[in-house]
Amino acid sequence: MRKMIIAGNWKMNKTVDEAINLINELKPLVATDAAEVVFCPPTIALMAAVEAAKGSNISIGAQNMYYEESGAYTGETAPNMLTSIGVKYVIIGHSERREYFGETNDTVNKKVHKAIEHGLIPIMCCGETLEQRKQDITIDFVNQQIKVGLLDVSKEDAKKVVVAYEPIWAIGTGVTASSEQAEEVCAAIRATLTEVYDTDTAEAIRIQYGGSVGAGNAAELFAMPNIDGGLVGGASLKADFGKVVNYK
Ligand code: PGA
Repeated sequence: MRKMIIAGNWKMNKTVDEAINLINELKPLVATDAAEVVFCPPTIALMAAVEAAKGSNISIGAQNMYYEESGAYTGETAPNMLTSIGVKYVIIGHSERREYFGETNDTVNKKVHKAIEHGLIPIMCCGETLEQRKQDITIDFVNQQIKVGLLDVSKEDAKKVVVAYEPIWAIGTGVTASSEQAEEVCAAIRATLTEVYDTDTAEAIRIQYGGSVGAGNAAELFAMPNIDGGLVGGASLKADFGKVVNYK
């Protein structure tokens, strides 16, 4: 039985003080044993966020990291910098990182390996553009992202990975994929994971849906058999996130 995992991707929002305030506000609203709850604030607020979340059910995740251990990589964050302050998860290959910062399936693969090596749980993102959906190549495109992203990741390690399926046309637009559209792709991802690994491994991997998830649609999306929670942007920055987490 896969445990649901609901993560808030704060993107480039909230100063350190604002992050502490938001965590304190949301803490009682997201208290549940039914799902893993992860908050991903900006890098600069991670340390304060870990502190603020202590004693609660909230785990802290980073929005990105680099795949080298240390060195001349101006502006980057190394995996051990994250683990040393108590960060548990890391979002890898979000479509905004791919679009604005040149990340590719190959860099995603390197980051997934490095995160696992350091005991961080990768939330590996995939998803098609509207153009690709119109061309009817969504499943092929997403499967390629999954296959390359997990290249040479062992079965045991793959079980730790969380996959986030986020159609780009649904991110921040208020247009959500219908639960059938989301389920279709998440089921295809699980079929690919079965093909690459085996049924046991594929059944263990959590697959989130992301893209305009909110209080009004979480229950329907999360009820789908191959959707094991969500990666939530806008709605994770307000009290609504409590309703998303307690969607039942
Ligand atoms: P959204 O963002 O919920 O604001 O659409 C989701 C994401 O990009 O992870």
